[in-house]
This record gives sequence, C-alpha cells and structure tokens, in this order.
Amino acid sequence: MLDKDLVALEALDPAEIVSLLDLADQVKAEPGKYRTALEGQTLGMIFQKPSTRTRVSFEVGIYQLGGIGLFLSSSDLQLGRGETIADTAKVLSRFVDGIMARVFAHSDIEDLAKYATVPVINGLTDFLHPCQALADFQTMREHGGALAGKKLAYIGDATNVYNSLLIGAMKLGMHCSIAAPKGYQPDPALIERYRGHAVSPDLQTDVTDDPKAAVADANFVYTDVWTSMGQEQERQARLKDLAPYQINTALMAAAAPGAKFMHCLPAHRGEEVTDAVADSEASIIFDEAENRLHAQKAVMLKLMGTGF
Ligand code: CP
Ligand code: NVA
Repeated sequence: MLDKDLVALEALDPAEIVSLLDLADQVKAEPGKYRTALEGQTLGMIFQKPSTRTRVSFEVGIYQLGGIGLFLSSSDLQLGRGETIADTAKVLSRFVDGIMARVFAHSDIEDLAKYATVPVINGLTDFLHPCQALADFQTMREHGGALAGKKLAYIGDATNVYNSLLIGAMKLGMHCSIAAPKGYQPDPALIERYRGHAVSPDLQTDVTDDPKAAVADANFVYTDVWTSMGQEQERQARLKDLAPYQINTALMAAAAPGAKFMHCLPAHRGEEVTDAVADSEASIIFDEAENRLHAQKAVMLKLMGTGF
C-alpha cells in the first residue's frame, strides 16, 4: 500500500501504480492546476551519489508545486561524519515535510523511512530505482498505449533500474525479458519473489545470455550503464564482459516492428548503446527524462499533499 513512503514499487498495489501514472499524466497536461498544492512545504534531498535528472527534477518539481527543495549532499551533512541514519531521519523530520534520498545501501533508505515521521522517497539505491520505473511506465503508455500484454526487453547488467522495471512490469501485466552474461543476470530468487506479484501467471520473465532472443517481439528495448555508481573499479572487466550486449541498429531490427529504445540515462554512448540508436526516431530517452518531473510530482502530491 502507498501509505507514508515510496521505497519500493513492491509495496504498492497495481491500482496504486496506475493511479500514480494517471496523476502524472494529469500533472503533465495541466501543471498550473497544482501550483499551490504543496505551498510552503520543504523537501529535504539527501544525495550520497551524484545526480543530474533526479536532483533537478525533484528540485524543480517541488518548486512547481509551491514548495522548496533543500539539496543536502551527504558529504556536507553530519551523516558523512558518522551521525546515524536514524538520528538524521528524526532530526530532519522536525524541519522538513518530506525527504528524498539517493543512497548506496538499500537498508539505509529503509531505515530513513522507518525513523522519519515525514514521507521518504527513494531516489535510487544500489538495489532499486522506483521513481525511474514510474517515469518509464508513464513514457511507455504515452508511446505504446495500454501496457498489459506488451513486452519490455532489458539488455545488459541487471541493475537497480532493471529490478524496479521488473516488479513494475509484473504489477502492470507486462512481459519482461533480460539478456545478460553469467555474473550479470538477476538473482533467480528475486525473479521468483517478483513473479509472486504478477497479475497473470502467463507473464514471461525470461533470462537469457542471447540479446536477440530477449528482444524478439519486444515493444520496448531498454538498457542501463554497464558500470553503475560505486562499481568504477570493475569498469575494465565490465566493458569486456558486456561488449556483446550493446544495443545497436541490428539488435533493434530484431525487436517488434516500431519498437522503442529506452535508457534511464546517463548513457555511456559507444558502450551499452550506439549513437545511431540513442539518436534514432525509435529513441524515447528524453521523454523518459522529462517524465521524471511529472511522475515525481505525482509521488509528492500523493505522499505530501491532501486529497490526491
Ligand atoms: N536516471 C537518473 O536517475 O539520472 P541521474 O543519476 O542523473 O539522477
Ligand atoms: N544503474 C545506474 C543507474 C543510474 C541512474 C547506477 O546505479 O549508477
């Protein structure tokens, strides 16, 4: 249930996800209607890792809703000098009306949510990126209509972004295949756990090491960076292991006719995707980026507003 926090899509009912997407569409269509919805409210934004999209879309988003965002780099907070997550959550709750946090350990966002008395929103952890997935499902609906029965093919490292897309797909009735080499594939136990949320037992969650097999009949072909934040020391091995998983024009041609290319960004062009694909007519990467703003405004309205 979407009650106090948005830590993981796993906790949300399918209808709650659809309701968030519908609100995101409304906010996008009529932004002026929501200009004072969170008047006078403050969103504390904790960042343990860098960000372009998440930082800017949350800061602009809260401003457009009548509130203000406070950028709190963890290196500037006492958190960076050993103050506990619990104490940080309790103190910030006395000052701000909501907290958005991007952290390394997923347990840190869970602890923030546990100890904060104000809503906590997950802005990415090593395990999940739910706000990205919400914006992506909004974008898929815009470009492909109803999501149920559509196929999302994810190519490359099974990252935090893949994990959030997979659980969302199960709740929204989409097939979700992945192609990755051994060592970069999702944990089978996680797939089983997420399959437990599938709205239909027929949903496919194929795991293969063959990119062509994964993209067959796919309406959306998705990738993420090969080296996520915090994995920089593994970069050379990752470049080598994941090289056969680049999304290029030939791989896109093996997907369903009219298939769209998706990427959470930032992209490492020439690695996981070629310029030709990223800049093609099929690419909807900048719509995804824009929809971070609208989807997160919907999240803030639901969690921090009244009557949404
Ligand atoms: N996609 C995404 O979360 O981008 P940033 O790292 O720039 O926030
Ligand atoms: N998997 C990537 C996503 C960036 C938005 C990372 O964690 O760095």
